[in-house]
Amino acid sequence: MGEGNLKIGVVGAGVMGSGHLEYLSREVPGVTVAALAEPDESLRKTVLDRFNLTCPGFNTLEDMLDGVDLDGVVVASPDRFHAESIRLCLSRQMPTLCEKPLAQSLEDAEELSGLAQQSLKDVGRPLIHLGFMRRFDPPFVEVKKLIESGELGAVLYVNASTRNVSSGNIKSEELLTNIAIHEVDTIRWLLSDEWSDLKVLKGRSTSAAPEGTQDPIVLTGSTSNGVVIVADIFANNTYGYDVRCELTFEKGVVRVGIWGDVSVVKNHEHPAHPSFALGENWIARFRQAYVNELLEWTGTLRGKKSSNLATVDDGLRALQVLNWVV
Ligand SMILES: NC(=O)c1ccc[n+]([C@@H]2O[C@H](COP(=O)([O-])OP(=O)(O)OC[C@H]3O[C@@H](n4cnc5c(N)ncnc54)[C@H](O)[C@@H]3O)[C@@H](O)[C@H]2O)c1
Repeated sequence: MGEGNLKIGVVGAGVMGSGHLEYLSREVPGVTVAALAEPDESLRKTVLDRFNLTCPGFNTLEDMLDGVDLDGVVVASPDRFHAESIRLCLSRQMPTLCEKPLAQSLEDAEELSGLAQQSLKDVGRPLIHLGFMRRFDPPFVEVKKLIESGELGAVLYVNASTRNVSSGNIKSEELLTNIAIHEVDTIRWLLSDEWSDLKVLKGRSTSAAPEGTQDPIVLTGSTSNGVVIVADIFANNTYGYDVRCELTFEKGVVRVGIWGDVSVVKNHEHPAHPSFALGENWIARFRQAYVNELLEWTGTLRGKKSSNLATVDDGLRALQVLNWVV
């Protein structure tokens, strides 16, 4: 693929799909949004109008693949459709960036891993990447560099939170496969280390959770190198979008705050900490991560290699770890 315009199709026009449409049409050079697949016709029209896009709309991914010539597809439909979308894209040898998770069940994920390995042999490059966008978030990238510099010694302990304001009709297992999966992937990637143990603590549930859903949950685990992890997942916190990560090193503490502010506590000094308002969802906090991820992914469509984009194997590994407690 040369330097010409890439024709990209987007699947799903909800929160994430409309975000990807915006970034692709406004922030990623050399890209044309060439089609949108979204079963809700009025939403499809509203979202295309919002970004002044005149591309054709379809009800399904299959109709879109049959109806337009595309260089790549971004899948942002609900989790339960990811496995079938990836199967279809692989069968058409269509490069695809699919939102997390790879699948909802380990069985589907294992099957997709086999199909992806076969397609790697057939095509010579990975066709499927996954939207673990924290790998492209500048604050998390900064922390990864700090870890790798060795400046603060080894990481001993990680304490993280992912807390959404509300999560619709989310079920207990989806706190793991939909939300906690970010923590599982981020920690593997940040530490270049594998999870070796995971447990879930369940306590009192919020009255804001759907009937029967355990919310919040606390994950405790460790990695092969012995780093202990405690992470809480809260799907319906009602008070404001709140993602934080604190890493305790041998010689200091590094925090990624709610707005991605990175503070380093060392040598008996703590940086100043102003107060601020919280967001309604993840879009404002991770906007740049989504844009950077799309820049990297469209680069692969032009033949560049990426060592940072999450692969089907990363998606499978995250589900294998979560399956210890699902
Ligand atoms: N990487 C991240 O930070 C992040 C954040 C939030 C959500 N997500 C993931 O993104 C995906 C979408 O989440 P969302 O919050 O945008 O959901 P959403 O419910 O806002 O939007 C999903 C859209 O997909 C449409 N849809 C349903 N079935 C479809 C199908 N078969 N083909 C095409 N479209 C279909 C729905 O009509 C809806 O408009 C989910 O898989 C979610 O886990 C990722």
